[in-house]
Amino acid sequence: MDITKYDESAVRKVYARWAPIYDWSFGWISDLARKTAVKEINAGQGRVLEVGVGTGLSLPYYADHLDITGIDMSVDMLQKARERVNEQSLDNVAGIHEMDAAQLTFPDAYFDTVVAMYVMTVVPDVNRVMSELRRVCKPGGRIILLNHFFDGRGIKGVVERALAGYATTIGWHSDFQKEAVLNHDGLELRYETKLWPMNIFTLMVFDRERAKPALEAVSAQGETAPMPWQKNPQQKRLREQLS
Ligand SMILES: C[S@@+](CC[C@H](N)C(=O)[O-])C[C@H]1O[C@@H](n2cnc3c(N)ncnc32)[C@H](O)[C@@H]1O
Repeated sequence: MDITKYDESAVRKVYARWAPIYDWSFGWISDLARKTAVKEINAGQGRVLEVGVGTGLSLPYYADHLDITGIDMSVDMLQKARERVNEQSLDNVAGIHEMDAAQLTFPDAYFDTVVAMYVMTVVPDVNRVMSELRRVCKPGGRIILLNHFFDGRGIKGVVERALAGYATTIGWHSDFQKEAVLNHDGLELRYETKLWPMNIFTLMVFDRERAKPALEAVSAQGETAPMPWQKNPQQKRLREQLS
């Protein structure tokens, strides 16, 4: 493959090639971990956004009480996802859209859960995508990532290093470091766990921080919030008369 720059157009080209074979190759190997992630999501409520939904392998696993939206930038992968929704009459799927994860067109705080499975190692701009996932997730909601992260040890490390130069060919970065998804403002890692096969994949559950109450926000800036009677002397007099 003659792609030298790993950008959005490279992703589309690589996944046009993956689309016909994805389900029975990587899709199959990664399915148990995918099911585990969806089980976690099914314990929640409300709207779910699946970013990089691909061929929609996860879609039949979502519980009926959820309202699922999937987005992806590969039209070839999305076509498979749409066929799956129609063939299996997945009524809980509200929409499947062509969209860039780095520029989501949803309003702020719209989804209760935002999930990206095997996507963060693929996207060209991780920081922008993380900040978009956070933006569209409600305060108090969850962001769930399922991914392979660089391990570097033993045979695994040898394979990861060997594949690292072929990101534009295989469509993902085998040397992607976990730190890239950690320490983003407003996201707190609640837990992570390694999953089958051979602990290659890691499931991470982040809590989207709730908005700080106004008083807390003021004192966080090193100031003391004025009491009502400090702003209004009449209120102070009334308070003194009452006490
Ligand atoms: C390895 S596949 C994972 C598909 C699916 N999540 C799964 O569990 O099988 C990665 C997917 O991410 C999509 N993708 C990569 N970068 C993207 C971006 N910036 N915005 C939206 N989708 C993206 C690719 O088109 C591809 O379908």
